[in-house]
Parts: sequence; C-alpha cells; structure tokens
Amino acid sequence: MSEIDSMTQVADIQARALLALAAVDDLPALDEWRVSFMGRRSALTQLMRSLGSLPAEDRPALGAFANTARRTLEEALSDRRREIARAQPEAAADAIDVTLPGWPTPRGGIHPTTRIVREICAAFASMGFSVVEGPEIEWDHYNFEMLNIPRHHPARDMWDTLWIDFEDADGERPMLLRTHTSPMQARIMESTRPPVRVVVPGKCYRYEATDPRHEWHFYQIEGLAVDRGIAMTDLKGTLYEFARRMFGVDRKVRFRCDYFPFVEPGVDMSIDCFLCQGDGCRVCSHTGWIEIMGAGMVHPNVLEGVGYDPNIYTGFAFGMGPERISMLKHGIEDIRLFYSNDLRFLRQFS
Ligand code: DAH
Repeated sequence: MSEIDSMTQVADIQARALLALAAVDDLPALDEWRVSFMGRRSALTQLMRSLGSLPAEDRPALGAFANTARRTLEEALSDRRREIARAQPEAAADAIDVTLPGWPTPRGGIHPTTRIVREICAAFASMGFSVVEGPEIEWDHYNFEMLNIPRHHPARDMWDTLWIDFEDADGERPMLLRTHTSPMQARIMESTRPPVRVVVPGKCYRYEATDPRHEWHFYQIEGLAVDRGIAMTDLKGTLYEFARRMFGVDRKVRFRCDYFPFVEPGVDMSIDCFLCQGDGCRVCSHTGWIEIMGAGMVHPNVLEGVGYDPNIYTGFAFGMGPERISMLKHGIEDIRLFYSNDLRFLRQFS
C-alpha cells in the first residue's frame, strides 16, 4: 500500500465516521459508533497498526495524518455526547460531573423594619408587656369613634384616611385601612379585664404624598398599660427606660404637651440628640432634641367606652413609628428606602 493510498483511506474513514456520527442520537448508539470507528478492530486502528510495515521515510507523515484523524473523531465524539446529554438529561445522568461546585443558594436576611420592630417589642416585653397584633382593615368604630374621635369631628383631619369602597345602609363608609395602631386599644380592653400591658406592632396606611419622611404605608407600635393607680410618673418612667435601652443609657428625655383626642393629658416625647449630645446638628434640626413618639394618659371617655370605670382604672398609651426609630439609629435619610426593595439597602441589615 502506497503512502497516498493510505492517506486516501484515512480521509475516507474519517468522512464516513463523521457522517455516521451525525445520525447517532442516543448514548447506546454512540457507544456502538465508538466501537466500530475507533475500537480495536476498527479500520482506523488497523491502519495505524500497519504503519510499521511502511517504508521508514513515509511513516512520520502518514502517522501524523492518522493521528489528526483520530483526534478529530475523538473531539466529534465528545461534542456529540454533550449534545445528546443536553437533549436527554435523564439518560445522561452518568455523564454529570459530580465534582463540579453546586449553585450557591441565595440567603435572605431579616428586613430592617422587622428587625427594629422585634428590638422595640423585646424592650417592652422585658418590662412585662405582651405583644399582640390586630387587623389592617379596620372599622371606623375602632379607628376613630372608640378613640374619642366622633364622625365629622375636625380631629379626624389629623389622619388622612384611605377608605374601603363600601357603604352601609345609612350611606356611610364604615371600613378603612387603619391609620394608626391605636384602634387596638379598644379591641384589647373590650376583650380583657385590667391589668392590661400590651404593645401592638403593625402596618398602617395614610392617604399621603410620599417624601423622605412620609410613606403612605408604614409601621407603628402602640403601647397600652391600664390598671388601678397608674399615673403619669409610670408613663414617664417606662418610656424613659425604653429610650435608654434603644439609644443609650445616658439619654435625657423631654415631655411636652401635645394633643391626641384619646389621651388627656397628651404629650410628645423627645430624647436629647445622641449625635451632638444636645449641641444642635442636622439630625436634630439644630434643636438638640429628637421627637420619637406621642403618648398620654388614656382619656376617661375611652375607658368608659370599653366598660372600664375611669374612677377605678387609669392608664397610659403611646405610639411610635419604628421606621423613624431605625432611621435615627442607623442614619437612614429616606423612609421610602424601607419599601422600595433595593437589595443594596436591604443587604446592609442582613
Ligand atoms: N396614634 C397616634 C398617631 O398615629 C400616635 C399616638 C399618640 C398613639 C399618642 C398613642 C398616644 O397611643 O397616646 O399619630
């Protein structure tokens, strides 16, 4: 056999092998193909074995040519195996490389609101308060009337309300998205007898344009303590202790008169600015003080409304925005970040 004949033969084997390979479409057939075109008794192997009988000067060129053909077939074989595996993954289970690293499982984190709500509730729980929750769709009755805010009273303007599109027999809309967590005050007192000591975290809604300090949905944490002989000093002592736990033991607190229809007297509570220690900076608007919540002594009308005798029982209530507390603690400048689902923001808390 001449060198040229042998080369023609190799080229011919390669062409036939590639043609046959294109028709192979499962793994058993692929194995058969491998045996017949690349196995020990295949034409190509036989031909390579016979190289030894060629004249020495012809051997290198033909040997190189045959090796190239063999490599071409090997590559074509593994390409085809990958294609088949992709098309029939179950048949190719054996072909999966178990030594490859797996896909990383994305790990979530606790949302900053959840985090601060838990922290605040834990502070009150350690002072004997229990934690309860209430409905976000609420009756006008609990959101306003039971809180000493009658229908058509101007005090309602303090809460821009989202009403549920539903009218009762009198043509009034009795349902709304709660504008604060205070409606739980009446619900809790109606269903228990004093002593009452609860905090109520939950979502609230207002018909409000958003800006860095306002969201149309946000959280509040309500607090209520009612028993015989509870006085303003209890309110001050409890909330002072809370402020120390959240913002540091050397905090000072300040109470000033404020108006909320369901408390009398009503106050707002501020802490001295923990950034400038009261000297005045941007965070405290150069006043040295930061307002953190509303509070007051439960109004006798509210107690009477739930059947508690205001001559026997007294209590205090308070309400705060946990996002605002978190913004102060972490230097967050825009409340809208809490609910815009930007992972660059959220990941900083996980
Ligand atoms: N519910 C009030 C609001 O949304 C906050 C508040 C103030 C709650 C005084 C109270 C309180 O319990 O005593 O503005």
